[in-house]
Amino acid sequence: MRSKIPLHHGNGAPVADNLNILTAGRRGPALLQDVWLIEKLAHFDREVIPERRMHAKGSGAHGTFTVTHDISRYTKARLFSQIGKQTPVFVRFSTVAGERGAADAERDIRGFAVKFYSEEGNWDLVGNNTPVFFFRDPLRFPDLNHAVKRDPRTGLRSAENNWDFWTLLPEALHQVTILMSERGIPRSYRHMHGFGSHTYSMINAAGERNWVKFHFRCEQGIANLRDDEAAVLIGNDRESHGRDLLEAIDRGDFPRWTLAIQMMTEAQARTHRHNPFDVTKVWPKGEYPLMRIGTLELNRNPENYFAEVEQAAFSPANLVPGIGVSPDRMLQARLFSYGDAQRYRLGVNHLHIPVNAPQCPFTSYHRDGAMRTDGNLGATPSFYPNSHGVWEDQSSLNEPGLPIDGEAAHWDHRDEDDHWEQPGILFRNMSDPERAALFANTARQISGASRAVQERHIANCHRADPAYGAGVAKALGPGHTMQWKV
Ligand code: HEM
Repeated sequence: MRSKIPLHHGNGAPVADNLNILTAGRRGPALLQDVWLIEKLAHFDREVIPERRMHAKGSGAHGTFTVTHDISRYTKARLFSQIGKQTPVFVRFSTVAGERGAADAERDIRGFAVKFYSEEGNWDLVGNNTPVFFFRDPLRFPDLNHAVKRDPRTGLRSAENNWDFWTLLPEALHQVTILMSERGIPRSYRHMHGFGSHTYSMINAAGERNWVKFHFRCEQGIANLRDDEAAVLIGNDRESHGRDLLEAIDRGDFPRWTLAIQMMTEAQARTHRHNPFDVTKVWPKGEYPLMRIGTLELNRNPENYFAEVEQAAFSPANLVPGIGVSPDRMLQARLFSYGDAQRYRLGVNHLHIPVNAPQCPFTSYHRDGAMRTDGNLGATPSFYPNSHGVWEDQSSLNEPGLPIDGEAAHWDHRDEDDHWEQPGILFRNMSDPERAALFANTARQISGASRAVQERHIANCHRADPAYGAGVAKALGPGHTMQWKV
């Protein structure tokens, strides 16, 4: 039955005919004066916006964060101010290397980005499902994406490019080991942990700083896919993770994660045996135990994928008083890169898009710019200082000073730290079946790379643990007989 509700042009006028274009005669050509045809095609032609340069394929959901343990002695952030306090959140999960149409069940890192709509502004914790990253110098980030995405000549993904890059970075072995392990393909977004990965800071009302790492511990239990299971799944359903999340929330089976932190004092950081701001390393849980602080629950699906998931803009620069950054230079580069990418991808006023807008009252001197759709602050003066008494900064919110010394130089970060210890520990903690899966997964993934690259990887694994190198060499088959030199 045809609805009586009219369809409208963008200017609000009713559309006369949405089935037949205006033509010169019954069999004649289209007329340019058919403004509805022009409007409809022109809008369609602009529907695609740039995808995220990485983490392009993703799914999101709304939910709630509830404080379960009091950490107000460590942070003045009001979202943690009392047990039972609830803060609305929006979470986006993603794969990293695939484009917007990529299959979900691929062996890849998963993004785990959380936006807390706190009463003091939005705090974004933009993390992954792994506690570490491939490297510790942000200059490598564009290279990582060029290596894992498509080859410039063929337009195809290239095992050679991917593994050539990874194996030339000794500090990548920790993350590569996790990625090639059983956890490299989560069964769904509901069945994996999340990590802030970097070291952040918490600052309390007395102005004392502690360093922290954030962990979302999955309450559904960890579950993963084997390569063969993932291949069958992708053959049947490229959207398996997105569908799983959507259907679970629709049926009221709300996924939950426990938010926990590890904490290090400034004094401990000064004597910690590794650089505590190195994102290629974990802090041992035996020395820095997990402290539970709250529960994240996802309980509402978006009404519209483009509006809420595609237009979501997370940034590590979105911080609130009481939560700060650290000297981790990767994190420092990210503070710039996300907002910059979003000004390109969504526009300078992307923080006005409802999913990104603060849910607390806020005032700002930012003016104008493309797609300014609110009243642009009307007649309020947009300069500072002014005699009108609008809007003052809050100097009491300045963070305590952080003592820093040393010469400005291009320090070689590889001189300082050991790359092999932690992947070695991870390997030695694996059971025999877990090691077997690591060897087989690695062999399948690296089999498309050249012999030289394969040998380089075996050598790196050997440095972490001789049994790791030997296992990968054996899985790659006859001929890989440790021809490398350590
Ligand atoms: C997405 C840059 C490292 C997690 C992005 C985007 C950029 C970017 C430009 C797209 C943002 C957008 O268009 O909205 C960088 C740079 C890095 C870095 C320059 C290192 C120097 C990391 C690390 C993590 C991470 C270490 C995790 C610990 C994510 C996630 C997303 C993302 C989860 C997707 C967010 C969403 O769902 O919208 N990154 N990134 N990135 N990055 Fe990074």
